[in-house]
Amino acid sequence: MGPSASGASQRTLGFIGGTGPEGRGLALRFAKAGERVLIGSRSASRAEEAAAGLLKTLPGVDVGGAINEDVARQADIAIVTVPYEAHRSTLESLAEHLAGKIVVDVVAPLSFDKGIASAVSVDEGSAAMQAQATLGRSRVVGAFQSISAQDLLVPDRPVDSDVVVCADDAEAKKIIMGLAEQIDGVRAVDGGGLQNARYVESFTALLLNINRIYRAHSTIKIGGV
Ligand SMILES: NC(=O)c1ccc[n+]([C@@H]2O[C@H](COP(=O)([O-])OP(=O)(O)OC[C@H]3O[C@@H](n4cnc5c(N)ncnc54)[C@H](OP(=O)(O)O)[C@@H]3O)[C@@H](O)[C@H]2O)c1
Repeated sequence: MGPSASGASQRTLGFIGGTGPEGRGLALRFAKAGERVLIGSRSASRAEEAAAGLLKTLPGVDVGGAINEDVARQADIAIVTVPYEAHRSTLESLAEHLAGKIVVDVVAPLSFDKGIASAVSVDEGSAAMQAQATLGRSRVVGAFQSISAQDLLVPDRPVDSDVVVCADDAEAKKIIMGLAEQIDGVRAVDGGGLQNARYVESFTALLLNINRIYRAHSTIKIGGV
């Protein structure tokens, strides 16, 4: 990893399941900040299509697309943006390639009944804890679970939110807090250990239900720090 012309390091951020709105939204923001970004998919053509879409929005950014396995292999930092239903199986299949790497878990395990969101109970305690249990040799960080894709996908609009970052690995947490603050408008807040990721994941259900009431995009702001 060395410095690029933009000042960002030459690390590669790889999105596992990056073709959905959340993966594309985060990829857009990080590419805009000068990061090298790879969009992952189960299908090479869907990945390339998503990368082409980002390039159309932001010409000249460093973005590519590949199947998840290749993205996991090439990434310095992997960012997991698959639906919760696919979380464990996807990570199990990529564990070898993700060993030793920072893995950022964005997944919020939720269910919906008549449009009302609820947090889903996870045996390990949270999606992030499940990731760490599945990826014993990776450095798992929980972050971005409450940042709306709709906000991320408008590149010129600041995202007026805190991002609470939880990890047991202090260095990995610091790196991802720095990454979060590359998104215009975002403040990173140290959320403590990975066991606290469960609260951020489940809070996302409340934000979605508030969005329904106010027809808005609510965000997290931690006062007093
Ligand atoms: N959307 C939001 O605003 C938002 C906000 C905060 C957090 N999140 C979290 O971010 C994650 C992604 O959200 P999203 O809305 O982008 O999700 P999504 O569109 O439903 O899924 C993202 C991608 O995951 C892949 N995928 C779907 N089913 C899969 C399966 N069975 N196995 C492997 N890959 C599968 C698909 O890519 P391919 O078909 O190309 O492989 C899909 O494009 C979720 O866990 C969500 O909780 C979302």
